[in-house]
Amino acid sequence: MKKIVSIMMAVTMALGVMAGCSADKPAAEEGNGAAVKETVLKIAFNQSENHPQYKALATFGEKLKEETAGAYSLEIAPNALLGDQRATAELVQSGTIAMAVVGNPIVENFSKEFAVIGLPYIYDSLDHQKEVFTSGVLDELFASTESNGFFVAGSFTAGSRNVYTDKPIETPEDLAGYKVRVMESDTMVKMLDLMGGVGTPMGQGEVYTAVQQGVLEGGENNEVTYADLKHYEIAPYFSYTQHLMVPDLIIINDDIYNGMTAENKEIFDNLMKETIINEFEVWNESVAAAKEIAVENGATFVEVDIKPFQENVKPLHDEVTAASEGAKAIYEAIRGLVK
Ligand code: GCU
Repeated sequence: MKKIVSIMMAVTMALGVMAGCSADKPAAEEGNGAAVKETVLKIAFNQSENHPQYKALATFGEKLKEETAGAYSLEIAPNALLGDQRATAELVQSGTIAMAVVGNPIVENFSKEFAVIGLPYIYDSLDHQKEVFTSGVLDELFASTESNGFFVAGSFTAGSRNVYTDKPIETPEDLAGYKVRVMESDTMVKMLDLMGGVGTPMGQGEVYTAVQQGVLEGGENNEVTYADLKHYEIAPYFSYTQHLMVPDLIIINDDIYNGMTAENKEIFDNLMKETIINEFEVWNESVAAAKEIAVENGATFVEVDIKPFQENVKPLHDEVTAASEGAKAIYEAIRGLVK
């Protein structure tokens, strides 16, 4: 109870600070005497300051401030300070904060077609995913959540996700009876079940304790989050099932975005495109550094033949693409970009 109260106090304080920061205020007078309104866009982020997405966002923020002549800047609230991703998506929806980075499964709960871009094994490589994120094939999908009060401004890579637990996972049979935490959507639960285990949805912040207490046998994530959250301490075998390359979506409140001038919107959009590419470039370096830390702390990385897992999840591709014409079209557009 004490913990809940202190978390609530932390969130309230953080929101208080945020409200103060994001209040529009007149900035320095311009040469012609007209005051520029300054807006601080608060963005919720559930990873640390070391994360490549944090670095990419920080650069985005600096450039945004510079190019909009101080009219817009970014304030990143890292480490899930404003709550888990599900909670922060709602804060963006209501306009309490401007932006958040959330895993694709969170947005899937608002618009079903997002399930397609987070299907297991839908991307063949990081290059394929980069092509998909930068080619414009997702533009329509990203605009489709507007009726919920926000839309997707861009998508970051978070590399590939792999299962980690107390033993190597080399075949689907190895996962039998294993409760593995997944991100919070039906598709993620079904995926892990098809892979041979028991998909258990929960927020990222609860995983360490749940594994430690035996509520879960493990989790699945990329190397960066595995190392950053010290999950090697509770699940030392990291097996390269490579089952997901799930996008992290940068969402923004509609009204806040629509309050920008056409010129500032264009600056925002162009910088966002640049940021997405930048983040791909730094991702691999972060993975190498994270692996080193994990190994130093006793983790074992296991190579896996992914074919049986790929075979097992095929019914999920069929189910998700059969849900609508739109879903099928997105699926085909993504697969059509394989080189
Ligand atoms: C990754 C991803 C996050 C997500 C997290 C999770 O780290 O980048 O957006 O929150 O996984 O498993 O919840």
